[in-house]
Amino acid sequence: MSQSIPLRLGVLGSGKGSNFVAIADAIAGGSVPAKVVLVASDVDDAGILRHAAERGIPGRYLAPGQFRTKLDEAAETAYIAALREAEVDLVVLAGFMRILKGEFLRAFEGRVVNIHPSLLPSFPGLAAWKQALDYGVKVTGCTVHYVDQGIDTGAIIGQRAVPVLDGDTADTLHERIQQAERELYPLAIAAVARGEVKVRGRLTSGFAARAEDR
Ligand code: GAR
Repeated sequence: MSQSIPLRLGVLGSGKGSNFVAIADAIAGGSVPAKVVLVASDVDDAGILRHAAERGIPGRYLAPGQFRTKLDEAAETAYIAALREAEVDLVVLAGFMRILKGEFLRAFEGRVVNIHPSLLPSFPGLAAWKQALDYGVKVTGCTVHYVDQGIDTGAIIGQRAVPVLDGDTADTLHERIQQAERELYPLAIAAVARGEVKVRGRLTSGFAARAEDR
């Protein structure tokens, strides 16, 4: 299924925004047929908003409401409205540290992607690089996946492996994984934008994905 391009991206992030920068730079360099039309953050001084401003991309702080790990109902409504107003085709989670479910995922069904710092299905949840180090695996990595109602359980779009080296600390391993993320995420979004994503095993209603062998 081919998409009309460029794909309009709404990027949500809570942190420094290195994945957003990699995506924006890849778009500017012509390798990703997409356009970031909105960056939104639940953290008012997040680096991702500064990077958006530097690039002339609309950025908004949208208050998350009363909960620590998810959006409250009013906030969820505000996020949906902002993304709809910007006519976003694909919601790109780039270090957005709140769980999105229910109404939000129904509003953008099959159109939300995330990057996670492990080779899923291993080490879902928080500080995945630290989970991998503590477990003692020799290889970990990162995963781009569609977001479904579970925690880091959606259909996998792409993965990159990263070795765990002798002497790694949580910080050195995290940095190596983040380098891989900055390579993988633009490639994965380009594949979505071009309608080239195939998912296997886990069906998604992703508008740009098709199931293999079904
Ligand atoms: C990334 O490493 C991403 O994998 C992680 O947050 C970081 C954001 O960095 N996301 C999660 O852990 C989601 N569960 P960034 O702000 O520099 O892109």
